[in-house]
Amino acid sequence: MVEQSVSNAARIIAIANQKGGVGKTTTAINLATAMVATRKKVLMIDLDPQGNASTGLGVDRADRAINSYHVLIGEAKLAEAVRETEIPGLSVVPSGIDLSGAEIELVEMARREVRLAEALKPAVAGWDYVLIDCPPSLNLLTLNALVAAHAVLVPLQCEFFALEGISHLVKTIEAIRQGFNPGLELQGIVLTMFDKRNNLTEQVAADVRAFFGDKVYDTVIPRNVRISEAPSHGKPVLIYDHKCAGSEAYIHLAAEMLKRERRATKGA
Ligand SMILES: Nc1ncnc2c1ncn2[C@@H]1O[C@H](COP(=O)(O)OP(=O)(O)O)[C@@H](O)[C@H]1O
Ligand SMILES: [Mg+2]
Repeated sequence: MVEQSVSNAARIIAIANQKGGVGKTTTAINLATAMVATRKKVLMIDLDPQGNASTGLGVDRADRAINSYHVLIGEAKLAEAVRETEIPGLSVVPSGIDLSGAEIELVEMARREVRLAEALKPAVAGWDYVLIDCPPSLNLLTLNALVAAHAVLVPLQCEFFALEGISHLVKTIEAIRQGFNPGLELQGIVLTMFDKRNNLTEQVAADVRAFFGDKVYDTVIPRNVRISEAPSHGKPVLIYDHKCAGSEAYIHLAAEMLKRERRATKGA
């Protein structure tokens, strides 16, 4: 914590949950956009072969020739893979289809879990935050993100078995702390696609809060159709419709996260 505040290094946050469709990419894109609106410089790293974060930020498929795969494998320097987005202050390392084969290649490589950490750490000083959008699996790509990160942010959809679903992730975080990355923190848990008319949503949210306590953000992200429309326009919802409930929620989430970090730094 203290080291963080004096060194002025980028804070690296992996956005992870091995379940697909829970709002990882949506949270990555819109949290990043809300952060740059508060004058933070943010780098998004798309580590999912599906490339939804790259598409959602408007990076053309033709403009992904050098991508996160090459950074991970050591074929390119981070700077060579960075693209500027239309949003001032927000840069992205896109993913490419090559990334889908990376796992098999990584298995053969020395220090296969620390490759992303080694590529990022010396190269991210120019940013305040680096957000890593992880694939929906606890594979070697996600492990690389967790080893490189200072903290993990977990988007969680309030559905049956949500808690059982993240127990595996929690165990993985624990194992990584004991091995490669002792300082790895749980940044927080954000409840996504929240539907307050649904009793099950409320029940699951109460269980998650009982289990994780104040690690769960007060801000919840509502289910909102504008959020699901935005990616097809290659824009964050905050740009597509900055007044909708989804945009407001992400602005609140960013504010809550930054406030909690300031408090933690002061307390350290
Ligand atoms: N709050 C929300 N309201 C409505 N749709 C959402 C919301 N969050 C995400 N979605 C939609 O749900 C789908 C899955 O979200 P996504 O962020 O891609 O999940 P993940 O990255 O975890 O697989 C996408 O089509 C996305 O547009
Ligand atoms: Mg995704």
